[in-house]
Amino acid sequence: MNLRWIVIVILLSASPLQAEVNLTEGEQKYQTCAGCHGAKAEGIEALQAPALSHLQPVYIVRQLQNYVAGVRSGSPSSPAGQMAAAVAGWEDIQDKRSLAVYIASLTSESKPQTLTGNAAAGERAFLSLCAGCHGRDAKGKNVLHAPALAGANDWYLLAQMKAFQSGERGSHPSDGLGAQMQSMASLLDDQKLLDVIAYITAQPQ
Ligand code: HEC
Ligand code: HEC
Repeated sequence: MNLRWIVIVILLSASPLQAEVNLTEGEQKYQTCAGCHGAKAEGIEALQAPALSHLQPVYIVRQLQNYVAGVRSGSPSSPAGQMAAAVAGWEDIQDKRSLAVYIASLTSESKPQTLTGNAAAGERAFLSLCAGCHGRDAKGKNVLHAPALAGANDWYLLAQMKAFQSGERGSHPSDGLGAQMQSMASLLDDQKLLDVIAYITAQPQ
């Protein structure tokens, strides 16, 4: 096949996500995730495994690929290392799409508050620094590749912001989107971070 045909075949096969997925297969595959992420993908703090049901399928697929490719990784005992081990060698993209759409079809209840912050004080910082990409309601913006944050566990948001600040997440050369977040995370001191998280978790999922 010459290059022009390869390009045409790729364009033709890039049909919308929904059209290709198999929810039953997604549900079956999710049974291997539920032990850590919870039956309704509500997250299990004791395992540091976050809620997933609020996330856009396209973001879930990208993160699964990031863990498989070592773009999101860590020592074997770290949360990222454990997650990477759980999906090691899983190359099938179709499978990931079905699973991601199944996860997004789940609804988990509102998450328990585990941190103290002032949502009113966090609102200003969120609207000026974060809303441009994540949306005023923190529901995410696919065109900017920014995930939903409303519906996340507060302890997970804190852990990820700390990981961006320390460079644990977003430093891999193939992680341009994570690198963007590193520079945003560095703008918040500890108190402002707790306030912003309180604002995010006060938003309906
Ligand atoms: C051994 C426990 C474990 C298993 C099994 C597991 N995960 Fe995870 N997962 C985690 C942990 C811990 C994290 C947090 C990692 C981090 O901080 O980077 C995570 C993170 C994630 C994230 C990133 C969420 C975000 O907001 O960026 C996704 C997506 C995810 N897991 C999906 C899955 C799917 C789908 C499966 C099943 C195929 C699965 N996980 C199996 C423990 C697990
Ligand atoms: C320039 C756009 C942009 C701005 C501004 C921005 N973000 Fe992000 N954020 C992103 C993108 C893109 C990602 C996804 C990174 C990836 O794919 O790994 C992300 C990821 C995150 C995550 C990880 C979510 C998860 O499920 O793991 C958190 C938490 C987060 N952002 C919080 C914030 C906060 C708080 C602010 C304001 C201080 C902010 N972001 C500002 C673009 C942005």
